[in-house]
Amino acid sequence: MRSRSSIGVFVLLLLQLSGLMPGMTDGRCIVFNFGDSNSDTGNFIAAYGLYLGPPSGRRFFHHPTGRWSDGRLYIDFIAEKLKISYLSPYMESSGSNFTSGVNLAVAGAAVSSNKTGAIPLGLDTQVNQFLHFKNRTRDLAAGAGAAATISEGEFTHDAVYSIDAGQNDVALAFLAGNLTLPEINLQLAAAAARIGDAVRALHATGGARKFWVYNTGPIGCLPQTLALRQKPGDELDAAGCLAAYNAAARQFNAELAAVCRRLAADLDDAVVVCVDMYGIKYDMFLNHGRYGFDRPLMACCGHGGPPYNYANLKTCGQPTATACPEGERHVSWDGVHYTEDANAIVAEKVLSGHFSTPRVKLTALCK
Ligand SMILES: *[C@@H]1O[C@H](CO)[C@@H](O)[C@H](O)[C@H]1NC(C)=O
Ligand SMILES: *[C@@H]1O[C@H](CO)[C@@H](O)[C@H](O)[C@H]1NC(C)=O
Ligand SMILES: *[C@@H]1O[C@H](CO)[C@@H](O)[C@H](O)[C@H]1NC(C)=O
Ligand SMILES: *[C@@H]1O[C@H](CO)[C@@H](O)[C@H](O)[C@H]1NC(C)=O
Repeated sequence: MRSRSSIGVFVLLLLQLSGLMPGMTDGRCIVFNFGDSNSDTGNFIAAYGLYLGPPSGRRFFHHPTGRWSDGRLYIDFIAEKLKISYLSPYMESSGSNFTSGVNLAVAGAAVSSNKTGAIPLGLDTQVNQFLHFKNRTRDLAAGAGAAATISEGEFTHDAVYSIDAGQNDVALAFLAGNLTLPEINLQLAAAAARIGDAVRALHATGGARKFWVYNTGPIGCLPQTLALRQKPGDELDAAGCLAAYNAAARQFNAELAAVCRRLAADLDDAVVVCVDMYGIKYDMFLNHGRYGFDRPLMACCGHGGPPYNYANLKTCGQPTATACPEGERHVSWDGVHYTEDANAIVAEKVLSGHFSTPRVKLTALCK
């Protein structure tokens, strides 16, 4: 007993020295997630009162849930591994349970809100929503008899703040029209900086100390990009993806890696882990056979058949679209988003720690 408690004191001291004092917490794992449709578990449909119909959800939930997939997203698999419930969407007013954290990710979100654009719920707004949530939780905890869902210390010392944003910014940089490559790169650098701003804001006013920041995947491999953006003569890379789009994604990721290094240096009482989502996803396209995928560039659910099975206005969910037979393995569900099969692989690799800089495992960070 005695030796165990002195070890405990020693560990506590170490944690204090490293700036990660657990405080008065019960060691639960809590996750606050920010981002776009890659990790939206139902915010978009709740926010806009829209219905994302079948066949989404057919594989696992057996009904549509507002996830752009046939089943679970990688963040759902991660929640399972962390032994917490699936994160409730911040904007879902019925049946939500925020004791394990909150999912603020919204489909279509870019790093900055654009009030005149289609999706005003960018990463900056999501951070404000989180700050509102935290204030609200604190107010409720102060009220007589009201049980707090998440305590002050849990926001600071237990919670992991994950951010998976940037894909829409890369897409927008191209869609903006006639930008030159240097102009596109400037825009991508600015977008990466906004992710850094979100981390700093969460750290400064939200008490966040553990960050898990994903870079962006190979947008040039998405059937939508290949079907709609490809022009004759465009260069394809080794995986058959649009080289210019993947180069832009990697450019954004290089900027984000620099942002991560600056954050790690500046926020010396925090842990900032950056995760190479690009490397994880690109390998599924390049070495698809290893994962049992046949046609990685062809959407399961869409219109038009090979090579991409993607057509504008005939997208998954529309009556004009059809889905592949259940059980057929695909990387892409609807031409933009990944299938449950692909998401399971993504989650496993995220959790492996092999794609983290520094080499930290999420299960070690979130405990
Ligand atoms: C919310 O989820 C937690 C953890 O999954 C569970 O213990 C709790 O009972 C749930 N609360 C409600 C009101 O369902
Ligand atoms: C906001 O969206 C509008 C409409 O899509 C677009 O014209 C404008 O360039 C966007 N602004 C920014 C700063 O992205
Ligand atoms: C949260 O509360 C603090 C004061 O405790 C206030 O300064 C801040 O503006 C509030 N933020 C939000 C988003 O409600
Ligand atoms: C894009 O720029 C090129 C050359 O600068 C010009 O010829 C072309 O018309 C522009 N296209 C659009 C859509 O603005």
